[in-house]
Amino acid sequence: MQAKYLTTDQPLSIDDISQQGILYDYILPHPTQYQSALDIWKQRRGYQSHDEVTLTPQTPNLTGIIETFYKEHLHTDDEARYILSGSGIFDVRSKQDEWMRISVQAGDLIIVPANTYHRFKLTEEKSITAVRLFKDNPSWVPVYRPQAINQE
Ligand code: LAC
Ligand code: NI
Repeated sequence: MQAKYLTTDQPLSIDDISQQGILYDYILPHPTQYQSALDIWKQRRGYQSHDEVTLTPQTPNLTGIIETFYKEHLHTDDEARYILSGSGIFDVRSKQDEWMRISVQAGDLIIVPANTYHRFKLTEEKSITAVRLFKDNPSWVPVYRPQAINQE
């Protein structure tokens, strides 16, 4: 995990992002390690289910998917992702409405809390596999930010 303010490049520590309400954990991406560790996070946050998603250049309509992910939005449930392989970039709004850029790779668990504006994109390698943790009837529906700003 690496994090910084997008506009100033000022680095952000795990402590900094946790003060901004973002939860982070590193868990060794080995089945004997991560399954029990994710179970503990599920109990802690009240998640009942999980699934696994993969995006690669072969994913049908990858461009369209990424376009929707990179539009600033929020969810009324947590967005909890544990990265198994590949990499990705989460931009999450700070309490002062600045973009915090959080780059994740295998072993990283990130929880963007409910009702927090964010967006997501792939890195150059265009490949990621992640476990999603969620409540039984999650509200995945993205709520787009009105007049979204800072779209690059
Ligand atoms: C989502 C992420 C990618 O909404 O923000 O699934
Ligand atoms: Ni989202």
